[in-house]
Amino acid sequence: MIRFLVLLLVSLFVACYAQNTMEQEISALLNQMTLEEKIGQLNLCTGDFGEQGPFLRDEYKAWIAEGKIGAFLNAFTADFTYNLQKMAVEKSRLKIPLLFGFDVIHGFRTIFPLPLGEAASWDLKAIEKSARISAIEATAAGLHWTFAPMVDIARDPRWGRIAEGAGEDTYLGCLIAKARVRGFQGNDLAAHDTMLACAKHFAAYGAAQAGRDYNIADISDRTLWETYLPPFKASVDAGVETFMTAFNEINGVPCTSSSYLFTELLRNQWGFQGFVVSDYTAINELIPHGVAANGKDAARLALKAGVDMDMQGHLFIKELSILLNEGKIDIKDIDEAVKRILRLKYRLGLFQNPYAYSNVQREKEKTMTKEHLEVALDVAKKSIVLLKNENVLPLSKEIKTLAVLGPLADSQKDLLGCWCGAGDYNHVVSLLKGIQSKVSADTKILHAKGCNILDADEAEQKKALEMAAQADAIIVALGEEAGMSGEAASRSSISIPGKQEEFLKELVKTNKPVVLVLMSGRPLAIPWPAQNVPAILQCFFLGTQGGNAMAEVLFGDYNPSGKLPVTFPRSLGQVPIYYNYKNTGRPVSPDKYTSKYLDVENSPLYPFGFGLSYTKYQYSPLRLEKSYLKKGESLKITVAVKNVGHREGEETVQLYLRDNVASITRPVKELKGFEKILLQSGESREVSFFLTPEDMSFYDKNMKLTIEAGTFTVMVGGDSENLMKAEFEVVD
Ligand code: BGC
Repeated sequence: MIRFLVLLLVSLFVACYAQNTMEQEISALLNQMTLEEKIGQLNLCTGDFGEQGPFLRDEYKAWIAEGKIGAFLNAFTADFTYNLQKMAVEKSRLKIPLLFGFDVIHGFRTIFPLPLGEAASWDLKAIEKSARISAIEATAAGLHWTFAPMVDIARDPRWGRIAEGAGEDTYLGCLIAKARVRGFQGNDLAAHDTMLACAKHFAAYGAAQAGRDYNIADISDRTLWETYLPPFKASVDAGVETFMTAFNEINGVPCTSSSYLFTELLRNQWGFQGFVVSDYTAINELIPHGVAANGKDAARLALKAGVDMDMQGHLFIKELSILLNEGKIDIKDIDEAVKRILRLKYRLGLFQNPYAYSNVQREKEKTMTKEHLEVALDVAKKSIVLLKNENVLPLSKEIKTLAVLGPLADSQKDLLGCWCGAGDYNHVVSLLKGIQSKVSADTKILHAKGCNILDADEAEQKKALEMAAQADAIIVALGEEAGMSGEAASRSSISIPGKQEEFLKELVKTNKPVVLVLMSGRPLAIPWPAQNVPAILQCFFLGTQGGNAMAEVLFGDYNPSGKLPVTFPRSLGQVPIYYNYKNTGRPVSPDKYTSKYLDVENSPLYPFGFGLSYTKYQYSPLRLEKSYLKKGESLKITVAVKNVGHREGEETVQLYLRDNVASITRPVKELKGFEKILLQSGESREVSFFLTPEDMSFYDKNMKLTIEAGTFTVMVGGDSENLMKAEFEVVD
């Protein structure tokens, strides 16, 4: 014990000493800086890519030498960043190293599943590992900073950026946000394979009205605090070092000018110590938002709100010194922002060795290694969700003739999805290639597209149908192309695009076993396939190893275990639809005057948390440690889960809670815990959850977290609808 205390004291002392040294060195540096050099640190500019690779605009070369750029985005490769760093360190007066940032969202060169797809794995270790590997590859190419994770909760599948997050649920979103932050930043920022993470887009970007990108968010404080803010707070708790502003406004205030968000909440209440970057030209956009008359106004609003770095807007560099002369901002505002940025450069180790990350040798050795590809395969197969299976899957590897059809069947590009870093589609294993390497040498594979993503193609369809007629089974890969989700990629329809469903109907008419492999960046409304196609796999976009992962599932080498991180609606008219809705005063029933539609059921096509397996799991009744507990006490809940099928499988056991009567209406259920377990055929395992007081609390009418006495229903099961239930009571 004494030894432990001594060690603790020594490490506290060392940390304090290091902190003091850093502060002293940064203050000393700040004292030497001219105003122009200070503002330069707040200026983030973009690199460019041409046919010959990365290049720099001439204007920026001069700016680097004058100390007028603090950081770059979109500039990478060890060689290129080395050269830029050399310019900064050798040509600028104070030799302050540059910071290099990039959107490393789901991989750098080795591409992992789209974040939404990865969330379907419900496997936090796998998700952390994918972020870790992304950081290893990115830092080897000279990068210090990723603009990830995107922790925006999204409940409107029209919004293209639903693809980049962890789906609709706040609890799952918080845990995934933390896993990604840990993965990118590791334990030691100074290590050369860790990078700064960035929680974005603060805040409520996912609440864009009508799912149209950049649109306003008009939401209550309750919704903001209950649904949209927690993953940002979780990121702060996990130690995220940077934040990015959101393009949207919330209730009349554009986020990039919101001192409530960045100063009051993020810094003062949550204690965030890092720096805030604007989104791309988001400061300039305060003009069309209508809160700034001109660039000067916009720069003032953003700096005053607590934004430290201007991404590609060039407004800080242009306007801050004028604003200072006019007395409209204070030198302290600038100094604070500069210090926040310098501290992170310091902690990354850039002052010690500005070139540490730009290492050509490491770049060669650490890019797309065997291990990275293995992990990408592992994460990809865990991200596949089996939506339907009427005794079709898994297919036999000995199958005689297999038709592999559809516009996405041999696509490499689309498997990368949106925001695919520096991924090269030539390295992607398409579904067709994955299948070819899986089946027996005697299997005959027939392949045709049958149609395009958007248009029919008569000749192609004829060819495909002839192949289908000869085949023992048909695998058809349909869905969206990669560019249909992501930024500025909202859709007003969430059906399978174009004429693909018509092609699918022709295939189903053959009465052969048809497997629909659906790829998309969002939940699609697929009522007809759900009714008529015997097997459906939801694959989102699975990245570099996508084809191998899908083949492992199709032929049974891997038993699918993915669970939907987002509700799949029956039709667009149900949107927004999410599992943790409120009951209303007239919950749906056969009575006419209840909350429902005339033309579609209330229930989703596939609920949140849903995903089938090639085996079956049976849940025992719940065992509660006690049925009464005092406010502030925790509760242990135990359930036994048995694999009653014939093969090993992984099940994600999910726990939901409802506060039955409270002073504020509560959702019909909220996810409060989950555990993914591996069970052999016939094996049974007990899983225990601990409900904490925090899990039982909610924001009361004064927006204070509180627990109220009364009954609660706890629910456990394999998705958000099929649940074992029990009640307990909290007493004063
Ligand atoms: C996006 C951000 C991204 C930035 C830099 C913006 O358009 O909204 O998410 O990090 O560009 O590429």
